[in-house]
Amino acid sequence: MDMNDMIRKKRDGGKLTKKEIDDFITGITSGEIPDYQTSAFLMAVFFMHMDEEETFLLTDAMMHSGAVADLSDIPGIKTDKHSTGGVGDKTTLIAAPIAAAAGVPVAKMSGRGLGYTGGTIDKLEAIPGFRTKLTMTEFKSLVKENGIAVMGQTEDIAKADKILYALRDVTSTIEDPSLIASSIMSKKLASGSDAILLDVKCGDGAFMHTRGSAEQLADILVKMGVSAGRRTAAIISNMSQPLGNAVGNSLEVAEAIDVLKGKGPADITEISTMLAGAMIYLGCKAKTPEEGYAAAEEIINSGAGLAKFRKFVSAQGGDPAITEDVTIMGTAAASIELVSDTDGIVQDLSAEKTGEASQHTGAGRATKESDIDLDAGILLRKKAGDAVKKGETLAVLYGDEEKIQCAAKELRDAYFIGQKQPSPRKLILEKLGL
Ligand code: URA
Repeated sequence: MDMNDMIRKKRDGGKLTKKEIDDFITGITSGEIPDYQTSAFLMAVFFMHMDEEETFLLTDAMMHSGAVADLSDIPGIKTDKHSTGGVGDKTTLIAAPIAAAAGVPVAKMSGRGLGYTGGTIDKLEAIPGFRTKLTMTEFKSLVKENGIAVMGQTEDIAKADKILYALRDVTSTIEDPSLIASSIMSKKLASGSDAILLDVKCGDGAFMHTRGSAEQLADILVKMGVSAGRRTAAIISNMSQPLGNAVGNSLEVAEAIDVLKGKGPADITEISTMLAGAMIYLGCKAKTPEEGYAAAEEIINSGAGLAKFRKFVSAQGGDPAITEDVTIMGTAAASIELVSDTDGIVQDLSAEKTGEASQHTGAGRATKESDIDLDAGILLRKKAGDAVKKGETLAVLYGDEEKIQCAAKELRDAYFIGQKQPSPRKLILEKLGL
């Protein structure tokens, strides 16, 4: 294949063949195609797009560019969940143990946070002793014994995605729907689960800022999963303000435990229950999605979700006492309060700006190589719709003294305080396949 011809074809709006796409993925994985040509190709895709068929072919080629996990020796319908990335999104820590408590095997490979979005692996590593690096054999036997295991994505899953994602990140080509869809689904399909639930976030704290683009992404993700023979569904949820009150790794683990105890904030409880219920349905432990949601609620109320979380933590080397004493995760070096300089009502709290402020407390990474402070982050005291008085605390920031002083200035810009009561926000915007 002549890479120059392929770039030109896409640049001029042409449709790529299976052979061209397969050769491209083989070429980037072997290192034969140089980064400058791959980058030019990504920009051509960004402007001229790929149709559904090309996107499916690209996903399939990327999926087979590395190892494909075989979970067939684990009994049951192994069910995975994936979020397209958000701020304060600790739903996996809640929904996965709930689904496992309902008898759905959860064998999940997760990622780390990047930029202002968090990642499940970082959050789990805030738990003292918790091991996220497992061999495939350990991973599978944990799922067989406890019904749940979560590990970091192995290097050999969807190798082409690692190359493409790194180049997309530095060439402003992240936001193309075909590139996002192939990146997500190549990894999910290679991870080997039988059922996949996609939580597509929509709003200023998500890749997809508009409802239309979130719907387009959700639609193609579901079609891809179904055509690959997996039970697949999607929930489109609002990411215009952070989920829950905690943003930052150990703070989010503590909040997830509160939700499992039935005393978490309403928004994160609602979305986690819905995701868990959908997983229970996809894993065929409920006849309808509604039956799944009711089962998830009951699992929180009975304490079975919390008990499964404790078992999951201890099976992966973590200290299960965390559910009774979250202070064992350690404390940040310093904290400061951000206070309101006016009376009013919070009209809006930007998820993106809150995520950036949290990243700058030390809780998030600027690049894949950055070190993070697992105890840094933000606890929000006021969110959209809350009344606030001058001098009242809007949020508390945790981390290194100097960093949180700067982050507090950024967080002030995330709050928009006015006089009107804003209209209530819908959290769950749409469901596909549920
Ligand atoms: N998540 C991914 O795994 N890939 C993307 O491209 C975007 C979100």
